[in-house]
Amino acid sequence: MPLWDGRFSQSPAEQVLKLSESISYDRRLYPYDIKGSLAHAKMLARQGIIPKEDARKIASGLKQVKKELDSGKFVFKTELEDIHMNIEARLTELIGPAGARLHTGRSRNDQIATDERLYLRQQDDEVCEAIRGLQYALWKLAADNEKVILPGFTHLQHAQPVLFAHHLLAYMEMLSRDMERLADCRHRINRLPLGAGALAGSTLPLDREFVAKELGFEAVLQNSMDAVADRDVSIEFLSALAIVAMHLSRLAEDIAIWFSQEFSFVEIGDAFTTGSSLMPQKKNPDIAELTRGKTGRVYGALLGLMTTLKGLPLTYNRDLQEDKEGLFDAIDTIKLVLSTVSAMLATVKPKAERMLEAASDPALMATDLAEALVRQGVPFREAHHQVGCFVGACAKKGITLAQADLAFMQKSIPTATPGFLKIFNPIHSVAARDIIGGTAPSQVHAQLCKWAKQFGATMPSATKKSKK
Ligand code: ARG
Repeated sequence: MPLWDGRFSQSPAEQVLKLSESISYDRRLYPYDIKGSLAHAKMLARQGIIPKEDARKIASGLKQVKKELDSGKFVFKTELEDIHMNIEARLTELIGPAGARLHTGRSRNDQIATDERLYLRQQDDEVCEAIRGLQYALWKLAADNEKVILPGFTHLQHAQPVLFAHHLLAYMEMLSRDMERLADCRHRINRLPLGAGALAGSTLPLDREFVAKELGFEAVLQNSMDAVADRDVSIEFLSALAIVAMHLSRLAEDIAIWFSQEFSFVEIGDAFTTGSSLMPQKKNPDIAELTRGKTGRVYGALLGLMTTLKGLPLTYNRDLQEDKEGLFDAIDTIKLVLSTVSAMLATVKPKAERMLEAASDPALMATDLAEALVRQGVPFREAHHQVGCFVGACAKKGITLAQADLAFMQKSIPTATPGFLKIFNPIHSVAARDIIGGTAPSQVHAQLCKWAKQFGATMPSATKKSKK
């Protein structure tokens, strides 16, 4: 019979057990469940609610249970439903009647909410650390290839030349905002539900502030009904993860495109690509594709949990048990993808010549030409029109912009000077974009140095120089 058997005369039906058990997946919460119980028991004794001797027995018993769980020797029982009752039952087996005092002033409703917050707080830290790892990999790839130029794209069409490092650093910014979001949401995660009881608080003089301090929570949740009913912090955490997944997916897509034969901008190490079972010549960017593909399940977890919550009356309803599997899966997925992509990036090598060749199409410097006219005092719209006519005339004649002579250029751009003919150089083009956030090597170098400082790393260019 279950621990709540008092008013029942029959055990739950077999199907009921199958549908209602959560021990098959909530067992991963055991370190947090034990941590929470240790703090709770300590508080109960301090408040004179249970004998000090019993609290001492509970503490040593819980440590024994933790040992069994850590070593994998713990025997989980499905009929005990969840991690809370599995641990409590084993504790009572070990220490006898004192174990029966642990659940004083507590419900599984505030217990699970507490376990989840402790778990989320830890995961928040671990995901941030993994993002940091990816940032380092991006920085290293960028810093090792500081001078490499490739075409920047809009609409997947050649737009303007940019530094490869500039492109990679765009993801650094996105990932930094992801970490800001996670750090911000950590404050809201880090509040204590315990003491809410089933929903209304307790008639016993529980010291919630003490428990919060013991568990490292920043504050105590101020409404017992809110404390057991909501899962908004899980939703917030999942939405932060969904944004991380979206950023990873775009990075993966860039890499898959660059790796295609048509682009052929990068090489990826053999250990991070896969072959085809049929076509012997194939080398596929499966890691990038899976990174893109995994995004769906992270979004799914977010949408699933929001859907679970939306129709629930206050306070706790058993539906809330469904908050776990998607959350766990999303966290595992993000951590796995972050570490794999970081390792893959360490094997990525840009094909600098091929990239420069693509970025050397003179059409990519059409904007530079228009801006040269702006410097002469021509209004931008007029400049844009003249250069547009020039591009059209070149296309009609079947020549590139760089193949036109001054006389031909002046037919469309009357004020063109001989200097205009020298604009079609991607190296000059990137160097000229020398404003904050621009792709000029001086700007990008400053950014790379800023990141290097954050990582406590040395710029590869600095070590090269000092070797000479
Ligand atoms: N396993 C449950 C969950 O995860 C714990 C809380 C159960 N509470 C209850 N009143 N049945 O939500």
